[in-house]
Amino acid sequence: MKVKEQDTIDSYSQSQITTKLKFYQEEHRRLTVLFNITRNISTELKLDKLLRILMDEVKRALKADRCTVFLLDKHRNELWSKVAHGEREIRFPGHLGVAGYVATTGHILNIPDAYADPRFNREIDKKTGYHTSNMLTFPMRNKLGEIIGVFQVLNKYDGPFTKEDEQLLDTISVISATQLENAQLYEEQKKTFDSFIETLASTIDARDPLTAGHSHRIAQYVDAIAHVMNILPNRREILRYAALLHDYGKIAIREAILTKRGRLTVREYSHIQEHPAYTRSILEKINFSNDYKSIPIIAAAHHEKIDGTGYPKGLSGNDIPLEARILAVADVFDALTSKRHYRDRMEFDKVIDILDRDTSTHFDEICVKAFKKIKLDVLIRILEDGTSDLLDKKDLKFLNNYNVNQLLEALKRHPRRGEDKLVAGTFNKYYNKAYS
Ligand SMILES: [Fe+2]
Ligand SMILES: [Fe+2]
Repeated sequence: MKVKEQDTIDSYSQSQITTKLKFYQEEHRRLTVLFNITRNISTELKLDKLLRILMDEVKRALKADRCTVFLLDKHRNELWSKVAHGEREIRFPGHLGVAGYVATTGHILNIPDAYADPRFNREIDKKTGYHTSNMLTFPMRNKLGEIIGVFQVLNKYDGPFTKEDEQLLDTISVISATQLENAQLYEEQKKTFDSFIETLASTIDARDPLTAGHSHRIAQYVDAIAHVMNILPNRREILRYAALLHDYGKIAIREAILTKRGRLTVREYSHIQEHPAYTRSILEKINFSNDYKSIPIIAAAHHEKIDGTGYPKGLSGNDIPLEARILAVADVFDALTSKRHYRDRMEFDKVIDILDRDTSTHFDEICVKAFKKIKLDVLIRILEDGTSDLLDKKDLKFLNNYNVNQLLEALKRHPRRGEDKLVAGTFNKYYNKAYS
């Protein structure tokens, strides 16, 4: 009898311990989820990435098959999501469906059986081929209490969503709302900034028809070189902006001199050479954020040469920012290959001969080497910028297998035979197109 009593006490306390342990494990899991979400989203300002992180984390946290975060576009009164598991961008009127109901009323909808609920729109399942069984749809509010979007979590693996799931999602929603609003604001500001820089670049490109599109092409060349050199995304972005603005100082150069077609006098030439210094002084008046403070310096150094004989400062070697050394290669390549009225392009190997000849005097060897690793499809797209939609996709796919170095070898070896002929021929089909 005694033994039996002992057994009961043991098993009772054992089950108590198990319950407690389960409770603590669950609490621990929830805290870990919240910690992970906070850590992962706190530094992310890219809306796409932020949405992706949130959807993945919520899906995992609630042990569900899918999660979509819909954001409310107040101007168009639409709900939209850039990325959803297994789907592309979705956009629909802000009052439609379960998400629309939650966005409009602010109520939480926990539906254990979707097909038994009249608010559920079966058409979406029909279209996507997905089968929704249970769903939890939750409003997301900002600090002012305004609804800015909706979480929609589908198909919890072990049965309908619970009250605890709702509480967890409530906390996640509070944590993420501010960061989502920040990201949206950041993207809007970035779009404004981008269009501002693009407009400045277009104004300078428009001043001289001979150099039309120059700044935009340079921006793509430097990006292609930076890609080869594995330069980090934020530096690449600065480089792209600097490229778009590098010749902006030409705005201060007298029109008659800038567009003069004949030989320049010494005085005229030195006036033109003032443009990088103008670039710097004008760009320094723009209130760039700390991240972008180096743009005027980089842009203004695009005519510096590695041996110190360039202008405006006569900087040499590593005193020239790497970004400006990349710019120098792109700038000369574009000048040598851009379309000229009534004239064909200089032959490609001659252009590269010039880059080679001036390596270690004008250009940094590392940058020229990187340039030669650019894939031919990338190069052709930039060379034909503006009409690149006329390029044959098959040709581009083929050219993607070769870089500039390989083209040069093909041109040297035997441009009339086999693979060499194919590479050189396909490249030249576009490169040597006659211009009028
Ligand atoms: Fe320039
Ligand atoms: Fe330039």
